[in-house]
Amino acid sequence: MASEQTLDSLLTEDRSFPPPPEFARQAHVSDPAIYEQAEADPEAYWARWAGELHWFRPWDQVLEWEPPFAKWFVGGTLNAAYNCLDRHLDGPRRTKTALLWEGEPGDRKSFTYEELHAEVCRAANALRKLGVGKGDRVAIYLPMIPEAAVAMLACARIGAAHSVVFGGFSSESLRDRINDAKARLLITADGGYRRGGIVPLKRAADEALTEQGGCPSIEHVLVVRRHVEGEAVGGAQMEDGRDLWWHDVVAGEGAEAPAEEMDAEDLLYILYTSGTTGKPKGIMHTTGGYLTQAYATTKWVFDLKEDDVYWCTADVGWVTGHSYLVYGPLANGATVLMYEGAPDAPDRGRFWKIIQDYKVTIFYTAPTAIRAFMKWGTEWPSRFDLSSLRLLGTVGEPINPEAWIWYHLNIGHERCPIVDTWWQTETGAIMITPLPGVTETVPGSATRTFPGIHADILTLQGDCIDAGGGFLAIRRPWPSMLRGIWGDPERFRDTYWSKWQGMTVAGDQPGEGVYFPGDGAKRDERGYFWVIGRIDDVLNVAGHRIGTMEVESALVDHPAVAEAAVVGKAHELKGQAVAAFVTLKDGLAPTDELKRELSEHVVRKIGAIARPDAILFAGDLPKTRSGKIMRRLLKDIAEGRALGDTTTLADPSVVARLKDDYESKGEG
Ligand code: PRX
Repeated sequence: MASEQTLDSLLTEDRSFPPPPEFARQAHVSDPAIYEQAEADPEAYWARWAGELHWFRPWDQVLEWEPPFAKWFVGGTLNAAYNCLDRHLDGPRRTKTALLWEGEPGDRKSFTYEELHAEVCRAANALRKLGVGKGDRVAIYLPMIPEAAVAMLACARIGAAHSVVFGGFSSESLRDRINDAKARLLITADGGYRRGGIVPLKRAADEALTEQGGCPSIEHVLVVRRHVEGEAVGGAQMEDGRDLWWHDVVAGEGAEAPAEEMDAEDLLYILYTSGTTGKPKGIMHTTGGYLTQAYATTKWVFDLKEDDVYWCTADVGWVTGHSYLVYGPLANGATVLMYEGAPDAPDRGRFWKIIQDYKVTIFYTAPTAIRAFMKWGTEWPSRFDLSSLRLLGTVGEPINPEAWIWYHLNIGHERCPIVDTWWQTETGAIMITPLPGVTETVPGSATRTFPGIHADILTLQGDCIDAGGGFLAIRRPWPSMLRGIWGDPERFRDTYWSKWQGMTVAGDQPGEGVYFPGDGAKRDERGYFWVIGRIDDVLNVAGHRIGTMEVESALVDHPAVAEAAVVGKAHELKGQAVAAFVTLKDGLAPTDELKRELSEHVVRKIGAIARPDAILFAGDLPKTRSGKIMRRLLKDIAEGRALGDTTTLADPSVVARLKDDYESKGEG
């Protein structure tokens, strides 16, 4: 999260970049009147978008809104996989490349729409034979291989909801997510390649399924053979009766499978994301509205055209991999590129080599990656021909103007518009973004809402702030909004819809219908949005969401720990890093050895993305007189700032002692 100081410097940013005339001339949208047109009748506008999809049965009503519960395209039926595949088979897209894939070791595969359709149908038939059907949940724990997209689409085809779990999560995280969703089937792989090594996914899956009560709902495990030597890696075993090789059960199936007719509001997927408690939330997305907005935003934000080669670097384990690697681009009939591995394997030129080799035209990545590229130096991209690129995108966290300008100069060669897209797992699709043929961009600002979306900056009392800072708020339902939290309807209302409950927002709107995304933001004189970052106890580490409470729960789970407090600390590359303050149980000595053990413990409980950058043993934690840990002060210590107001503390000396300790140990 940017500090106030960074933000002030952001807001004095005065460089602006109008759409290049050549780009605007050929863009899907180049007339700003589109904003007013959408605003005049948002439901009619979204209905026009939905009308570009294939429906088995048209909807009776565009929107039914009983805050905070929305239903879009009520009464309509469709199938997401049918929209991503079948409807492209009638014309020239049949033989167009749908998916280009490159593995980290350099192996390649490609699928036309016809071939991808056949593969998805084979997988759908196999899933049906395993007894999986409409209304079931399937957990997917795969590396970035074509089977990940195939598995998601096969689930969508038969009406089973997928729950994709990022391959970097630990076996415990996988187990919790499987059990929460009560998934019947787990689809995994023996391993995946990452930075020259192998991530032993099947071994982690085995641990999830057998240790600490296991996963009673799982009936079968379908295992993709990824490891080129063909052996299950890391000591994983195929268990008779439970485990099946993907190639054994999928390859022999027929290349046709009927697509289940799904209600617009039937569940398409669950995706777990971190919140302010120790337990991740299963965000629910349904079929009709989600696909409509994923489709619309992909087409307009990326100005997607028939001959584009589109590359989104996000992992399928995150929402970006759902909306902008699979559903959005395939619903548009695009050629999508997928890459398995790290950007620095075998060297730091890998991404640029991929762009050169495949003539990538649209490139969508995260600020954390751009900051790493900056650090590695311009000599890497300058060795490659990047002239195929015509549009660049970023997502996941605020982008600092220096990184934006670096991206613009060294990757876009001053030719490519940059779309800085703000959205979340919960919003399902892009919400605030430039339209590349219309919007003048300013480095660091996500600019304006996508047409049809209504956002504002509000005060705590629900007043609108035209220019200045406050709480970001979405004031109208949107098609791809989350429909709930799996198994926890109360948390849905409390987390997202209660900030202005009982108040009147902007003078005329009941606060119950206003969505709070958890972000602080500012608006500048021209009405552009500048999202600062989370204002709740959620961290954004290298573009990944991590709850401070999740890491704290992992730490106190260790027998040596009495109490833990976790805060985010500004980090040059990752944006934020995890800093942990830990008090030990009586009589235990703080050692470097224990520090390492605690760090490993967090990795084991959550995954490597949550590994603390700094752990400080504290005699005591700073608390208010009512016993609440003062995270703000801990953050000041972790970031080496002068201490703010400590007068509300029960014992002000605690924090001064901590600060001395932290600084003397060189953690800052
Ligand atoms: O704080 C915002 C930040 O990422 C959060 C959402 O994280 P997640 O659900 O994991 O989804 C990430 C990919 C969509 C938001 O609440 N965020 C995302 N995009 C931006 C951003 N912050 C500033 N600018 C962005 N473009």
